[in-house]
Amino acid sequence: MLGLKLPTDPRWVNIVEKNIDEILTDHAYCEQKAASTAVSLIVSFPEYTELVQEMVALVREEMGHFKMVHDRIIARGNVLGRDRKDEYVIALIKFFPKGGSRTTQLVHRLLYAALIEARSCERFRLLSEELKDKELAEFYHKLMVSEAGHYTMFLKFARKYGDETEVNQKWSDLLSFEAEIMKDLSKKESIHG
Ligand SMILES: [Fe+2]
Ligand SMILES: [Fe+2]
Repeated sequence: MLGLKLPTDPRWVNIVEKNIDEILTDHAYCEQKAASTAVSLIVSFPEYTELVQEMVALVREEMGHFKMVHDRIIARGNVLGRDRKDEYVIALIKFFPKGGSRTTQLVHRLLYAALIEARSCERFRLLSEELKDKELAEFYHKLMVSEAGHYTMFLKFARKYGDETEVNQKWSDLLSFEAEIMKDLSKKESIHG
């Protein structure tokens, strides 16, 4: 359903189980970055009224997720740590050439956002199925459902604002590129690592 071409190595869950505190910190920042991306799309593309409206709702939802993760960090007796680079996202957003028309730039940003949501969704699903801590597994199940909705929303907007055939081709090419990136990942204690 997500279209991803390479599933996460299930052994990644073992790394997560041993590093829950690091995962929660990294996860909190994933939610913050999702909210920041939504704000940035509003600022860059204010004339796309429907997008702006959806992004306002998304900012609220993603910051709600951030709070849920932050509350968990506090409940575990910890303090939110500093953000670290997301190597996956840094590698991913090199795919499309910079520049092009405004519409092209919008489509590229929407496709990146769709893919990051899709991969997050896939990882949350894996956690929801495999984590031994059933309460944490349930938490990831709920988030998995939300991220699936975000993935479809971003893809829908890309197809709506861009040329559909072109967008579908770009999406397919981006999925192939992402699968190449993923071959070297699934080895670190982070949501996309
Ligand atoms: Fe989220
Ligand atoms: Fe999301």
